[in-house]
Amino acid sequence: MDKKVSLTGDRPTGPLHIGHYFGSLVSRKELEDEYESFVMIADVQALTDHFNEPEKVRDNVTEVALDYLASGLNPEKTTFFIQSQIPQIAELTVFFSNLVTINTLKRNPTVKSEIAEKKDLFGAKGEKLTYGFLGYPVSQAADITIVRADIVPVGQEQLPMIELTREIIEKFHRIYKTNIFPLPQAKLSKAPRILGIDGNAKMSKTLNNAIFLNDNPEEIRGKIKSAKTDSHSTVAFDPKKRPEISNLVLIYSLIHSITPQGAVKEIGNLNYVAFKSKLADDLIKFLEPTREKRKELEKNPEKVMSILNEGTKKTLIRAEETMSLVKKAMQINY
Ligand code: TRP
Repeated sequence: MDKKVSLTGDRPTGPLHIGHYFGSLVSRKELEDEYESFVMIADVQALTDHFNEPEKVRDNVTEVALDYLASGLNPEKTTFFIQSQIPQIAELTVFFSNLVTINTLKRNPTVKSEIAEKKDLFGAKGEKLTYGFLGYPVSQAADITIVRADIVPVGQEQLPMIELTREIIEKFHRIYKTNIFPLPQAKLSKAPRILGIDGNAKMSKTLNNAIFLNDNPEEIRGKIKSAKTDSHSTVAFDPKKRPEISNLVLIYSLIHSITPQGAVKEIGNLNYVAFKSKLADDLIKFLEPTREKRKELEKNPEKVMSILNEGTKKTLIRAEETMSLVKKAMQINY
């Protein structure tokens, strides 16, 4: 394999929304040719905070796979797989867990804020925090190293995981006197983050503020219509002072591949009602090919499953190769 390897993935906890589209799917499409690309549906990681909702994770594995394919990622170029189907990831996680201290895990800023958000599950003071959730970054390091990835396309909040992966690899190399893994690099997406349509910093299903790739035209129109704005009368791009209207301008600019400033010019003096109506029309049109492709794929679930199975087979071969290198280095290759 002469191309460099890319691995990334998503937790299957809901269908993908336009934030995923502009934030990661577009750049994954661009990387397909340049890299040997792996895209993983992280069901094992999703279970770390949805262990009591297996049906939700199961349903969303299919949803996310449909979203990947409908949005134009090419299964001839990208290898898709489901995390739980690669047992070598779990095996490697066990070996890596010896190389990470509990204190390091407790300091991980992303994990910390997730624990704080999940009071129902982990308790108001984190007193019900599980070993599995605290340790998911170790498993994520195994996701990345099992395919010996060179780059990991992710958002900003995943940087602590990539940093930990690099630390684990360096320690592994030092202790077991080997050099089997590339040191992976994060590849941050260029697109600015889209806020929820209520102005919340995150677009998410639970916050009920997301526009999904598979929303129908009426849903899109309704959501844009009800999107929060402000009491000014003309459109502007000023994310600090006027975050909500700026977010709608940002969405408009991403659809039309122009800058937000260019978008403001283009929108001109339209009032909010007229702008929203145009934005809804344009977004509906923009997502139409994705929606149509998804409809086709939904009629053919065997095809979707067979793409995932093919990808799993390919990934298993690479994972076995990695584990034989790992076991040799660790002197457990009996
Ligand atoms: N933690 C990532 C997220 O929440 C998902 C993920 C799991 C991932 N394993 C990965 C991303 C490996 C990149 C590489 O979005």
